[in-house]
Amino acid sequence: MSTAKKEYKRVTVKSLVEMKKNGEKISMLTAYDYSMAKIVDAANVDVILVGDSASNVMAGHETTLPITLDQMIYHAQSVVRAVNRALVVVDIPFGSYQSDPKEALRSAIRIMKESGAHAIKVEGGVEIKESVKRILAAGIPVMGHLGLTPQSIYKFGTYTVRAKEEEEAEQLKEDAKLLEKLGCFGMVLEKIPAELTKEVSDSISIPTIGIGGGKHADGQVLVIHDLLGMTHEFNPRFLRRYMNLYEEMGTAIGQYVADVKSRDFPNDDEQY
Ligand code: KIV
Repeated sequence: MSTAKKEYKRVTVKSLVEMKKNGEKISMLTAYDYSMAKIVDAANVDVILVGDSASNVMAGHETTLPITLDQMIYHAQSVVRAVNRALVVVDIPFGSYQSDPKEALRSAIRIMKESGAHAIKVEGGVEIKESVKRILAAGIPVMGHLGLTPQSIYKFGTYTVRAKEEEEAEQLKEDAKLLEKLGCFGMVLEKIPAELTKEVSDSISIPTIGIGGGKHADGQVLVIHDLLGMTHEFNPRFLRRYMNLYEEMGTAIGQYVADVKSRDFPNDDEQY
């Protein structure tokens, strides 16, 4: 069932701001490869995020830190080839924008030029202000990411809920306003109290996209492997699994193994 209020043949950064204005919730989902992106796009997901969570779910790293700019561009190219409708946003990976604004701009340009993606996402607030300004000045749409920012996991020490204390919540509210003022078209709010998400979302005109940020965000994002239940050891409270693909795929693959071993596959109709 679709509850979209207006048909968007092609979702743009402007469409997202319009959706917020019209009270239409925004759907966002990750994808990292051509086949998955084709399915996600055909299902009318508004925004496809080529997240640096590829470092976890595609490459098996414990954190998002190891993935490189070249690897992100490779994933983004595969996704862009599949997409007809969704806005494709690509994470700038750790280590390719923190040194200085010029490096940030170079990395953003490489993503846009080499992948054909439509926008980039960066983690952080005031500390990356100059980089965000520089990227935006080059005409590249920027999405922010506040709250639990996984590239800073070693600073936080844990993946627990952020901004529960007054001081951090105040800083987050200021950062959200700053990102809006700089010209970002939206921002992810990860793992923060629902009431704080509401306050932030009500105070800015650009959309907030929550992951563990509660129901008041203007949209929601999940990692597709989690939504489909391909990952089964990651069970945060915010995650709703729509399938148990880990089990279903395991059963199907197990059946294939059994069929090969028993000489059932291939049968007479499955050969030339
Ligand atoms: O990399 C990612 O998948 C993300 C989402 C969790 C928002 O940044």
